[in-house]
This record gives sequence, C-alpha cells and structure tokens, in this order.
Amino acid sequence: MADYILAIDQGTTSSRAIIFDKKGSIIATGQKEHEQILPKAGWVEHDASEIWRNVQEVIGLALSRADLTRHDIAAVGITNQRETAVVWDKTTGKPAYNAIVWQDTRTQAIVDRLAADGGVERFKPIVGLPLATYFSGTKIAWILENVDGAREKAEAGDLIFGTTDSWVLWNLTGGVDGGVHVTDVTNASRTMFMDLETLEWRDDILEAFGVPRSMMPEIRSSSEVYGAAEDSSLLRETPIAGILGDQQAATFGQAAFQQGESKNTYGTGCFLIFNTGEEIVHSKNGLLTTVGYKLGDQPTHYALEGSIAVTGSLIQWLRDQLGIISSAPEVEELAEKVEDNGGVYIVPAFSGLFAPYWRPDARGAIVGLTRYANKNHIARAALEAVAFQTRDVLDAVNADAGVDLTELKVDGGMVANDALMQFQADVLGVPVVRPVVAETTALGAAYAAGLAVGFWNGLDDLSANWQEDRRWEPSLDEAERDRQLRLWRKAVDKSMDWVD
Ligand code: G3P
Repeated sequence: MADYILAIDQGTTSSRAIIFDKKGSIIATGQKEHEQILPKAGWVEHDASEIWRNVQEVIGLALSRADLTRHDIAAVGITNQRETAVVWDKTTGKPAYNAIVWQDTRTQAIVDRLAADGGVERFKPIVGLPLATYFSGTKIAWILENVDGAREKAEAGDLIFGTTDSWVLWNLTGGVDGGVHVTDVTNASRTMFMDLETLEWRDDILEAFGVPRSMMPEIRSSSEVYGAAEDSSLLRETPIAGILGDQQAATFGQAAFQQGESKNTYGTGCFLIFNTGEEIVHSKNGLLTTVGYKLGDQPTHYALEGSIAVTGSLIQWLRDQLGIISSAPEVEELAEKVEDNGGVYIVPAFSGLFAPYWRPDARGAIVGLTRYANKNHIARAALEAVAFQTRDVLDAVNADAGVDLTELKVDGGMVANDALMQFQADVLGVPVVRPVVAETTALGAAYAAGLAVGFWNGLDDLSANWQEDRRWEPSLDEAERDRQLRLWRKAVDKSMDWVD
C-alpha cells in the first residue's frame, strides 16, 4: 500500500491540500485563498468555479512539494466549510449562482416565512437545528426563488445541490462525465433536511422549503470509498474515501471518539463540539444537535455543537475593513502593548449572534469607548471576544451535559496565538490543551479516508497518534474573571435588538 493520505480542506477563506503519513504528521501542504464576494451588507458569496480550480492547484502544489505522485497516495479525504450551498447544472457543470456562504444572512425572510407556522424550532426535533439563515436549506430555496429559470431547471432534474464537499467530489470524479453526487452524514446534518434518526432526507421538510428531492445528493457514511479520481486528474484512479464537515473532521482529528470528549476549533468562526456517543441529545441551552461521524456501516455518533460565527474573521475585519493591522498575527503585537482592554468590549455579531443566543436581530457593537481607548485596546478586545464567546458556549455545554468539562482541546489557526490561549484558559477557568498537529481538520478527513482503505486499522491507531504539545493553565483571579464576564454580557445585551 502507498505510504500517504491526501486531505483536501475546502475552507471558508482558502482551499488546502495536506499530505499526511501514518503517524499523522504533515509531509507537505498547498494552500490558496479565494475571493470573499460581499455584494451587500449581510451577503457573502464564493465563486464555486474558482474554488474548484484552486482545489486542483493545491493538490498539484502539495504533491510537488512532497515530491510524490498519485502512486504514493493510498486515498483522498475531503473536509469542508459546511453549510455553504452550491447549486449547479449537472449537464454543463456550471454553477447556477455563486455559492451562498454559511455566514450569509439574506435568507432571513425565508426563515421568518417558515417560522410563521410553528416557530423557529419547528423542525428541530427531527433535524436538530433551529430555523436560521446559517444552514444550507434556506440558501437553496433562495436560489430557486431568485435566480431566473432556476426553478424550472431544478424541476426538470438538471440543477443539483451540494455543500462544497459534494461539489469537489463531483468534479474530482468526472463532473459532467459521470461525477459522483454524494455527501456524508455530517454535511447532510447541516442542511435542515436530514432526519437525525434515519439519516435520510425528509420529503415533508424539502416540500416546505420548495426544494425538489432530485437536487439532493445521496447521503453516505463519512468513511467509505465513494469513487475514484477521474483520468485527467493528478490523482487519477485514487479512491476518494472520506468526507467529514470541517468541525466534525477536527473532532475526529483530535481523536475525541468517546462520549463526553470535546474540542474547540479557532478558524473563521469557532465551533465547540461535544461528543454524545450514539445518543441524540437535544439541547436546552442553544446548542445544535448534529452528526459527529459514521464509519461505514458502524453506528452513528452524534454531537452537540456551539457554533460561533465570527472569531478569526473579526481579525480579518480589523485588517481588511478597519486597516489597523496589516497582517493577522499583528493583532497579538498590538494587544500585548496594553495591560488590559481599557474597558473596551467588541461583540462581533456580523451575522447576528449564533450559539447560544441565536439572535438574528443582533449586530456588531464596540462598547465602553472613552477618549483613552486606542487601537491596541481594540485589538485586545477583538481577541478577548473570541475567548468570551467560547465561554458562553462552554457554559451551555456544561448545562446540557450536567457535568463541567475539565479541560478544552483546541485546534485551528488561532491556537498559535499564546496571548489568546492564556486568556482563553483564564476566562474558562479550565486548562486549554493544544495537540502537536494543530491541523486537526485536514487530519480528521485523512483519518476517515485512511480507515476506509485499511491504511489505519482502527481508532486505536489514531488515538496513539495524538500528542499534547502545550497546555495553558488558568491564572486569573476569580473575582476579576467574574467582573470581566459581567461586562462582556452587558456588551452582548447591547448588541441585540438592533435590526429594525
Ligand atoms: O459551519 C461553518 C464551518 O464549517 C466553517 O468553518 O473553518 O471554514 O471557518 P471554517
């Protein structure tokens, strides 16, 4: 058998290909950012064709940097930004519209229309999700309702839907010449259409949204051979054998396989996932119920999730929209120039507030400003907002679980930021632990693919690969922590009820 697995991580801001060896170590990486198309306030789009071109390019980059060919790759795994909706014509391979990104809030009117009959929790007992603009279902409905000719083509069976895992898989396996139209249970659990118990699309919910069932991909497990890369691809004949939505992939890459284990990933947003084993747990505290993973025909593992829409993208906003930093890592330098936040709090409710609040009427707020506040305080408040939001979600997890988490495993780009991780431990009051391989998202997809083709023999092999790199212990005085949390929650209150 070949010695490596290649993972494709199709994320919100970039696409990457990462090659792993059997120990789970990174051999080479290729990465390319794609454009964030922001046509109006609240709208976020990607060009799906650009994404596919970038995916092909980064596969080539990773292979050439590792000096490997397809013969060295035992299997390919795919992980992806989850709720971003691509609708394309299966006869031409062309997208019907730009991909509508998970952060996009244009579908609030569709949410309100659906919620008028039964409230936002109308489908929650079946799909685990409240009605919200976040999930892909309303985005498909918007395309069918607003793009000329889309509904007719969809009803004729020409338009199909997929999250970006399906889009990449379909293209990689031949596109118009027989591309495989499949998604995995984790991505399917983010549409609003999948029954968590049967793992099948619900005709009644599809009908309520006006989405023809013929558009939907086949739902498969997260670890099985879906098809092979097409002949013209650099990966020709290599099996594509794993798909996991990126947050579930990170959980898998952290080897959090047991009920009660959890992780928090710091990317564009932050997503805390808590493994509930084979049990479907419905949250009473604003968390989502989602599929964790399913390996072939083994039992399904479920999870609770606290999704925070804006964390890393707040730092990008400081760079691109405010211009107070010129690169993301600079935020740490600015934040360290001051001893505290100077009383400044930022609530980055750019897409409303997600977990645990679910308030579409919230908008971003910077509060506590005085003449004394400067850009260093703003930078510090931005980092602190990441940690405070995670604390809110952790409180919800603890309340749902009935026991308190004793430590938090972390991963993702921002865990390189020491000041943030220390503050995170301080605000949570529990240790924060980073593994050696912090690229757990791609690693999780590689694991799912490798398990399917026998590259790894079982979960024990994967657990043996997990190693602690660093641990931050809480050191903030409890009274001071409580004072800061009180102010943070006042700031959150101020961000709400803003939309007319
Ligand atoms: O639910 C959205 C999530 O899947 C996006 O993750 O890492 O691309 O920000 P990321």
